[in-house]
Amino acid sequence: MQAFQFRNPTHIVFGEGKASQAGELVKQYGGKTVLLVYGSGSVKKSGLYDSVVKQLGEIGASVHELPGIEPNPRLTTVNRGIDICRTNGVDFILAIGGGSVIDAAKAVAAGVPYEGDVWDFCTGKAVIQDALPLGTILTLAATGSEMNGNSVITNWEQNLKRSFGSPHTYPVFSILDPTLTYSVPANQTVYGSVDIMSHVFEQYFSLTENTPLQERFCESILQTVVENVEPALANPSDAAARSNLMWSGTMALNGGLISVGMANDWASHMIEHEVSAVYDIPHGAGLAIIFPNWMKYVYQERIDRFVQYAVRVWGVDPTGKSDDEIALAGIQATRDFFNRIGAPSSLAYYEIGEDKLDRMAEEAVRYGVIGSFKRLDKADVRAILQLSL
Ligand code: NZQ
Ligand code: ZN
Repeated sequence: MQAFQFRNPTHIVFGEGKASQAGELVKQYGGKTVLLVYGSGSVKKSGLYDSVVKQLGEIGASVHELPGIEPNPRLTTVNRGIDICRTNGVDFILAIGGGSVIDAAKAVAAGVPYEGDVWDFCTGKAVIQDALPLGTILTLAATGSEMNGNSVITNWEQNLKRSFGSPHTYPVFSILDPTLTYSVPANQTVYGSVDIMSHVFEQYFSLTENTPLQERFCESILQTVVENVEPALANPSDAAARSNLMWSGTMALNGGLISVGMANDWASHMIEHEVSAVYDIPHGAGLAIIFPNWMKYVYQERIDRFVQYAVRVWGVDPTGKSDDEIALAGIQATRDFFNRIGAPSSLAYYEIGEDKLDRMAEEAVRYGVIGSFKRLDKADVRAILQLSL
């Protein structure tokens, strides 16, 4: 295990009906002039928007709005939010929605006190020094953005999707009400679940030695997601399944709790972001396509971790099998599971062919080789994309 520091400041309020505490929490954290950030309509349909606006009225807050956050949120929309905040003296941001809404809200929060272009945070040209306080009400179990300081923004004009992370952009509070996820359609439930599992993979497949507790944290989240996706698909209002998926998503990526002291990988995410940046596909769907191919490409770097994964997560019987056979059975079980729940398995599903593979591979390694389980250069990324066609 490596030396580490861990701090997570986000106040989590979990439970059925807890969205009714939004007003109280905004007040507690000092919000008087609030920017309400949301997507393209799900929160209006569910009644969450009306409830939140009413609560903000009850605490005497003045409310400005940034609607229409796109899945794979765009820099242009973020800039619109920054302008609204500056013009109106906004002092608190409330994001109600999925990861895209929360990520856009974080970029607005960091952009308001910064004089330059907020994109500078995504390219590494500048480091966030300050941000407006941000609260969230999560409506989709997936990214973990509700309890981490990360944000992923798309610069559509340049076909680039880049992220930043900062201690200043952790939400001050996040309300996790699983009933708000009952309306999540089947495809988004699947993509979100694949994303949660992928966050765990990025941390679990590590070369760091002596991390048994972290490995078991990871395995327990993977097993919990596997056990709960199909019940949630069969009955979207299954309270137990939705609660377990929601908490799994938050625990999988909240500043590294499950993988403190371990080298993380993140190459598959970087590859997927390049695909989304060009083809605007859902993040979790891209991961379902890419991750099993990354696994096949790298598993021999540390076969014992893949053997452990196969046996502990998928119950592969190791009797009479070589390490290679066990590891490959675990990878196949991953692919079979993604297929069974209805996730796509190849880029062809989105009619993506070979023409832009070079460009995507090149962008993925723009800042140098990626990954730590196996260091990947442009040729490696190209090969993984080729396997994913
Ligand atoms: O826009 P609305 O109408 O709200 O509809 C959304 C959207 O169309 C819908 N939805 C959300 N909650 C719903 C619902 N529909 C019905 N009922 C509900 N309760 O779902 C669609 C997808 O929403 P989105 O927010 O895009 O999904 P997700 O949470 O998967 O977020 C994806 C984004 O997060 C980034 C991804 O790259 C992508 O841009 N990520 C952010 C991370 C982070 N901040 O830590 C880490 C991740 O690895 C990821 O990269
Ligand atoms: Zn992800």
